[in-house]
Amino acid sequence: MDTIAITVNGERHELAVDADTPLLYVLADTIGLKGPRFGCGLAQCGACSVLLNGQEVRSCVYPVGSAAGAEVVTAEGISAGGAPHPLQEELIAAQAPQCGYCYGGMVVKAAELLEANPSPSRDEIIAHMDGHICRCGTYPRLLAAIERAAERMRGDA
Ligand code: FES
Ligand code: FES
Repeated sequence: MDTIAITVNGERHELAVDADTPLLYVLADTIGLKGPRFGCGLAQCGACSVLLNGQEVRSCVYPVGSAAGAEVVTAEGISAGGAPHPLQEELIAAQAPQCGYCYGGMVVKAAELLEANPSPSRDEIIAHMDGHICRCGTYPRLLAAIERAAERMRGDA
């Protein structure tokens, strides 16, 4: 057992855990977050994605020991001050999620894009979101919601 400190959504946690435990298990089972989900467990679907120092990682295969000292942000933490993030508002407005299982990962991946590129083209959005699987097939509404959120964040809408 190791002692590992990580910051999750701005809150510091000191954990007694084996360093090779998947980060997802700590986020979901120890801390009790609902945003990152277990889908494939093989880094293939993106349901478990979180941001680690601003970059997406697949938390189902990412050892918690490698996150020591890092800032982890989950779907619960992408908005500031408790207000919904424009992405979250636009996803709801578009009624994009169906079962919603994939969206904890989708929303952090989309937030990563808009942080780096405030004006992504449709092709850039598709390329960035590639590898995030939605078994409900909600891609058209997802893409439209990301475009709309980008417009709002730029002040175009
Ligand atoms: S559960 Fe991690 S990528 Fe599928
Ligand atoms: S909304 Fe059901 S898997 Fe994406």
